[in-house]
Amino acid sequence: MTTDTLTTPAGPGAPAPGTPLLQASGVTMRFGGLTAVNNVDLTVNTGEIIGLIGPNGAGKTTFFNCLTGLYVPTEGTVTYQGAVLPAKPFKVTQAGIARTFQNIRLFPNMTVLENVIVGRHCRTRQGLLSALLRGPGFRRSEAESRERAMELLAFVGLDGKADHLARNLPYGEQRKLEIARALASDPGLLLLDEPTAGMNPQETRVTEELIFAIRDQGVAVLVIEHDMRFIFNLCDRTAVLVQGQKLVEGDSATVQSDERVIAAYLGTPFEGAPGADEAAEVAAAEEHAAGAAAEPATGAASDGTTEDSAPRTTPASQEDPK
Ligand SMILES: Nc1ncnc2c1ncn2[C@@H]1O[C@H](COP(=O)(O)OP(=O)(O)O)[C@@H](O)[C@H]1O
Ligand SMILES: [Mg+2]
Repeated sequence: MTTDTLTTPAGPGAPAPGTPLLQASGVTMRFGGLTAVNNVDLTVNTGEIIGLIGPNGAGKTTFFNCLTGLYVPTEGTVTYQGAVLPAKPFKVTQAGIARTFQNIRLFPNMTVLENVIVGRHCRTRQGLLSALLRGPGFRRSEAESRERAMELLAFVGLDGKADHLARNLPYGEQRKLEIARALASDPGLLLLDEPTAGMNPQETRVTEELIFAIRDQGVAVLVIEHDMRFIFNLCDRTAVLVQGQKLVEGDSATVQSDERVIAAYLGTPFEGAPGADEAAEVAAAEEHAAGAAAEPATGAASDGTTEDSAPRTTPASQEDPK
């Protein structure tokens, strides 16, 4: 990855670092009787990497869809740089928010380079007539798009594969290509929905570096992931969604040590997620320990406060299902 090749940082009129960029307040999304997202507030400031975690079905992707104009929230507002976002995905992209999808969405029969050029279309001024006539304005704009796309491919480490068909890339590289395509719209905020799903640990580490490099270029990042190590390494703050509601938000130490988070994850370990095995082991160990509860625990505090420190296996926070 060549991080110095990304020369144009944040999107239009990039504000000073540390100022609110995205503000979601009271965002609620209902599908019939199901409340998928329930009264969620979240702020992303410039220069930040924010994590969004939670079990499958918690409403993370639905929340992303509310931020990007794919869904119109049933209640609540979303502003970007102080202005309410339009409820049209391409207008949201134009405003400065780009995203990738949980299930990769590339044009499989286009080349890697073409996929990135497509991502640039919201920043080019050339209309249909100009494209049909292929005038000098169109050709100049096309050359610029191509150059910028190559720059971005170098940034994510795919410049050597510019002419390959997208569908022939290995899975991990398709995810990187999606990121390059999202960056092609010159966003101020990038939303990543499970960017390391299906990656091996080595690819995950490279993606982590890539996200830091994106942030260093002035693009704020909001990222959904199940890989806790990845999230806690990467993020300035992390919000935890459980059953549509924000359970807790804070820095890695705060979230990791929050009993409600521990309970929510130990209670419903997400299938196949890294860490699920460990969670199951911990739960089993605790069950075992509970069986021997009559015995005083070895190494327990001598002041009689033994029961407060262990995470509980029964979720204390799930009595309000929807
Ligand atoms: N378009 C939709 N119509 C109806 N229900 C939906 C729709 N999208 C998501 N849901 C439901 O909303 C809940 C949250 O889903 P989702 O946002 O995909 O969760 P996550 O990304 O946290 O795994 C789930 O119960 C899901 O079935
Ligand atoms: Mg999802």
